[in-house]
Amino acid sequence: MQLKNDLLLKAARAEKKERTPVWLMRQAGRVLPQYRKTRTLAKDFKTLVKTPELATEVTIQPVDILGVDAAIIFSDILVIPEAMGLNYEMEENKGPSFPKTISSTKDLSQLHIAEEGELQYVLDAISLTKRELNGRVPLIGFAGAPWTIFSYMVEGKGSKTFSRAKKMLYTEPKLSHQLLQMITDSTINYLKGQIKAGADIIQIFDSWAGILAPDQYTEFSLKYISKICDAINDVPKIVFAKGAFFARAQMAKLNCEVIGLDWNMAIDESRIILPSKVLQGNLDPCALYGSVQDVKRETKKMLDAFGPHKHIANLGHGLYPDIEVDNVKCFIDTVKEYSSSLHKN
Ligand code: CP3
Repeated sequence: MQLKNDLLLKAARAEKKERTPVWLMRQAGRVLPQYRKTRTLAKDFKTLVKTPELATEVTIQPVDILGVDAAIIFSDILVIPEAMGLNYEMEENKGPSFPKTISSTKDLSQLHIAEEGELQYVLDAISLTKRELNGRVPLIGFAGAPWTIFSYMVEGKGSKTFSRAKKMLYTEPKLSHQLLQMITDSTINYLKGQIKAGADIIQIFDSWAGILAPDQYTEFSLKYISKICDAINDVPKIVFAKGAFFARAQMAKLNCEVIGLDWNMAIDESRIILPSKVLQGNLDPCALYGSVQDVKRETKKMLDAFGPHKHIANLGHGLYPDIEVDNVKCFIDTVKEYSSSLHKN
């Protein structure tokens, strides 16, 4: 199917286009009252994720309501551990937790490499979303980076330090690599399934990149992200590694088109370190707590710093649930209007 709006794909391939595309991490979520309504109807998060009709509905909400240039399939990065045999729970306002965690070879022997069919509910949601979108905008598929998934599987829940997960890297490096490889193989199967089902572009989220020291990041995270990038060749790839400012020079060598920046990564410096990459990001989500005038000013400042080419506008991390929808819209509208004027010059 021909896309009516292919700005995101053009930008990802560094092609000429009439303006900068914009989408937001966590655009499908609690910031929208319509999401909260569907979420209440579904009773719980996992039912929402596992019911393709409902997942499709909340995936398309931000396209209708906010006017973003892409949809991102509604799911979670934690569906991978579940498909590998480690069940997760999602408690409202508390975040994810795992009743069982991984700490030994015996634990590892109870896991398996996930096949795409084990995540059929996500693939069905992708096919249905593609049908319902009817070519309006591209659909982004996604997965967590192996290191971030590993952190949850070992730690069992969110943490400020992830010291249990990091301890395992120091005390059980061999076991750590085995688990990371299993996650990597599962993720490659999963992403290939997403692309077959219709995902037009994919993003890898390394949310906990920033808690590793540089050498460890190279050994335990980038190595596996690189394997995923090399295995996926049919669609453009975005790698977003939160807090990995120290690894940007190495990320320049990844087999991917786009690097996502968080708000700690200076734009001018990132252009120098990552000259061949398209950059995505990177407004601090907290900038959207300001007035509409503040949001406009900060958004224009960001667009000026990136310039009109090789940029996909986004935040530096996901939207927070208590940000005003009007301010989110203001961010999106400012990108559309202001970047159109920059492209004319
Ligand atoms: O719009 C989108 O971005 C698509 C959907 C999406 C969700 N999770 C839905 C979700 C995506 C891309 C994710 C990825 C994800 N999940 C990441 C990587 C991105 C990042 O933020 O760094 C991580 C680390 C997770 C794990 C996770 N899921 C956490 C830590 C939480 C709790 C935090 C919170 O906001 O409550 C979740 C739950 C979650 N995933 C929600 C949504 C909309 C909120 C749950 C709810 O509706 O109650």
